Amino acid sequence: MLVIRNIAQICTGPRGPVELCGELPVKKYTESAIGIEQDTIAWIRDDTEENIPKDSQILDAGGGCVIPGLIDCHTHTVFAGTREGEFVQRSQGKSYAEIARTGGGIKNTVEAVRGSSLDELVSLALPRLQRMLTLGVTTVEIKSGYGLTIDDELKMLRAVQRLNTLQPIKLVATYLAAHTTPKEFDGNPDGYLDLMLGQDVLDQIRSDGLAEFADVFCETTAFNVEQSRRFLLACKETGMTPRVHADQITQCGASQLAAEVGATSADHLERIDEASITAMKENGTIAVLLPACSFYLGVEQAPARRIIDAGVPVAIATDFNPGSSVVESLPLTMSIACTQMGMTPSQVLLATTSNAAAVLKRHDKIGAIEPNMQADLTILNVPSIEQMCYFAGRNCTQAVVKSGTIVHSQPNNQSISKPH
Ligand code: NIG
Ligand code: FE
Repeated sequence: MLVIRNIAQICTGPRGPVELCGELPVKKYTESAIGIEQDTIAWIRDDTEENIPKDSQILDAGGGCVIPGLIDCHTHTVFAGTREGEFVQRSQGKSYAEIARTGGGIKNTVEAVRGSSLDELVSLALPRLQRMLTLGVTTVEIKSGYGLTIDDELKMLRAVQRLNTLQPIKLVATYLAAHTTPKEFDGNPDGYLDLMLGQDVLDQIRSDGLAEFADVFCETTAFNVEQSRRFLLACKETGMTPRVHADQITQCGASQLAAEVGATSADHLERIDEASITAMKENGTIAVLLPACSFYLGVEQAPARRIIDAGVPVAIATDFNPGSSVVESLPLTMSIACTQMGMTPSQVLLATTSNAAAVLKRHDKIGAIEPNMQADLTILNVPSIEQMCYFAGRNCTQAVVKSGTIVHSQPNNQSISKPH
């Protein structure tokens, strides 16, 4: 048995999804220890000598706070190339949409991904995931969407599958073939969707277990509502769960579509309107907000407070990608949610654990610290979630437990001792 002792505070929400309005269901245990048997949390008890089984391996939290392993439920972590030219253009006043319209943006990365082998994509993504792990992240969703041919989209999904075997973070894959229309299909988005919805592609995704979710960029510069609906329903038919990049640049009914097709989430929502918030509330659609993206693009944030007050469960993610958010740090993103969106540290914790787990349909297993849940735990070197969010940009993680195994511990950390 592995036992975590000397914890200032265990801070956790319940199993998601949870609303973030009113009194929050955050539990804070003090003077408690956590017992882990194999990959599962066995108990939370008073941290006293008689409560610790003989022969336990002890992980000394050194007076730090323990939270559920963080879950980044929206990323594009597999990509090649960089786009600092666009970063400079934006710093001179050009907008993200303008850059996309003039052939930059997503298409830029598509060229680089098409020119990279599966092995190259894997080697590029591996250090990114290793850095995420050291920041306390134990589950990451990764989308395709930079291949935009059958072979290149499958190559991206296979890269995610391979990465799952090479490092401790659990990766969840999403088929985002409907990210934008590639140049070969200029002016013919429907023809492109026909190709990417071919039965052979969908069969391969299903038989090889390559993607659990399907996603579309529903936007005036990408796919309209009708095209997005067609893509999502066809993928749903094959067993994938819909999600939507919605209301990011314009309001075109994208988050209402998410609600209509039973998507687990509508993501972005910078331009969401009241009718869409109501539709999401009525259909149980989770709002995934991406504050690091607005921060990075220098645009207005999604109206987090309005969405929260309407009772829609909110999750927070990095949107890590080479164009609109090169921020791979979920903790920094959490601090941005506090300072730029008016969310509290407790709300942000629930948004990156309980609710992020629900977006990925894993809330019966991860996202909360309670007996019988998978032992995914982040041990901070600060005593509270408030202090973690307050130290924006500092890495406050000292150790990470994934499925009951210590998979990361800060260099010089003296806290792991031999059997008790
Ligand atoms: O979530 N909005 C569309 N897709 C990504 C950005 C992709 C890119 O710019 O490479 C996003 O922001
Ligand atoms: Fe995205």
